[in-house]
Order: sequence, then C-alpha cells, then structure tokens
Amino acid sequence: MIKKCLFPAAGYGTRFLPATKAMPKEMLPVLTKPLIQYGVEEAISANMETMAIVTGRGKRAIEDHFDISYELEHQIKGTSKEHYLTEIRDVIENCTFSYTRQVEMKGLGHAILTGETLIGNEAFAVILADDLCDNIGSEGSVLTQMVELYNKYKCSIVAIEEIPKSDTNKYGVISGHEIEDGLYKIDDMVEKPDPKDAPSNLAIIGRYILTPDIFDIIKKTKPGKGGEIQITDALLEQAKNGMVLAYKFKGKRFDCGSVNGFVEATNYFFEKENLK
Ligand code: G1P
Repeated sequence: MIKKCLFPAAGYGTRFLPATKAMPKEMLPVLTKPLIQYGVEEAISANMETMAIVTGRGKRAIEDHFDISYELEHQIKGTSKEHYLTEIRDVIENCTFSYTRQVEMKGLGHAILTGETLIGNEAFAVILADDLCDNIGSEGSVLTQMVELYNKYKCSIVAIEEIPKSDTNKYGVISGHEIEDGLYKIDDMVEKPDPKDAPSNLAIIGRYILTPDIFDIIKKTKPGKGGEIQITDALLEQAKNGMVLAYKFKGKRFDCGSVNGFVEATNYFFEKENLK
C-alpha cells in the first residue's frame, strides 16, 4: 500500500517572476485553487494519507494554506461565503502534512533525497505540482492508475507522455520495450537530451512511484545535467539493476511550469467549471 506522497516544492519559479518573488510558485492559482492543492487532491484520490512536502526559504504560505485560518473561519461562519472553504477543509481533514526544508537547490534527485526523513523505508509517490493533471472519462487520476500498476509489479514507475521530438530538451526521456498496452520496461533514460540524441519521444511527466532503495541510489548519483543530481540518472541505475516501468497514463496534463501551459490549464478548468 502506498500511503505517502512527496511534493518537491523548493524551486524558485523564475519563469513566473515577478509573481513568484514573494509567493511560492506552487501557490499560483488555476481559477481559485493553488497548483499544489490540485496535486494533494490527486494524491488523496489515490488513497494517500500523508503529504510530505519539501520546501525551502520563502515557502511558508504552503504550510499556512494547509492549516486552519481561525480568523477567516470566524469571519465567514454562517455567511453565504462559507462554502468557499469546504474543499480545502476536506483536504485538511483527510490527510496529514509534514514538511522538511531543502537548504540548497541541487536538483530534483537531491530534493527527493531530502524527503527521505519524511518517507522512511516504504514505497511512495512523487508529484511535481507544476504538472497539473486531470482525469478523463471514467479513468481514475494518473496516480490512481500508477498505484494499481505498482500493486501488480512492485517496482518504481514513471508516468510518460508522447511529445514532439523538438521538445525533448525539456524532459527526461525514456526508451524501453512494451510489456503491456502503454506500459514499458525501461532500457534507457536521459535527462533533457537534444532532439538528435533523444532515445525516443516518450517524456517523463511529474508523477513517480519510487521504491525506497532509490534513496541509497541517489546518495551515490553524481551530478548530471546542469550540474544537478537528477532523479532520471538514479532511476536509470535502478532500471539497470532491476526493473523500472514507464506508463503512458490516461488523462490530461498541463505544463503549468510554463506560462503557455498555465494559461491553457486556466482556460480548460474555466470551461469545465462552466459546464457544471
Ligand atoms: C523534471 C525532471 C524531468 C521531467 C520533468 C517533468 O524537470 O527532471 O526528467 O521530465 O520534471 O515535469 P523540471 O521540469 O523540473 O526541469
């Protein structure tokens, strides 16, 4: 059973400056809900109970968001505005939050390793909140689909999506052979390769299930692309010595780490709200 979900949330969000100068990028709202709340709701939908958040300096708003604001509750109690807080109250009641700080920014692999103290020795999920995912049709959330696969294969799994070959330098890219419809056993993975060096056009998106041996592997992983400790490199090592799967998820995903993706997500959720 996977009960914990890790949220690396220490990054600076430079692409959204000046909005992110004094506000964490994870708190940017799509409509009225911050990105990180969408992520937490996805983890809850996959039956996870503990949200382990790796923060950094200037990220205190995240902790305040997942806490009760007594003053606000008092002000709007019994008024027509009370329902605005229903969703976030449900979130707070349905899980617990724990935090640790990443003191230096040394890459996603390092951020995940910083979370070891909150995770311990069990398999866990990772959500990168700027990849915003929505369910389609009757499919469960991306993480729900991945948990089902984990229960069958008991190994690390990354979510992947087909991208235009010209975009491979923005993602971790995998290659592998298909063992089930849309499920690949990974042979190779490269962090942000040039299109000419990319092993395929299958890109990793910000959803992972990791087995806890990944922590020791990260500790031995040397800095890679951009001089940072990359989770992609650690996962390749895990794949070579065992098995790592890549899953072409069913759902919709927006790259809210870019302004274009963020606007697309906003329009999409706005239309969806209006159809209700
Ligand atoms: C990270 C990972 C990359 C992955 C991406 C998904 O990159 O390093 O492998 O494809 O997330 O969003 P970042 O976007 O943080 O640069």
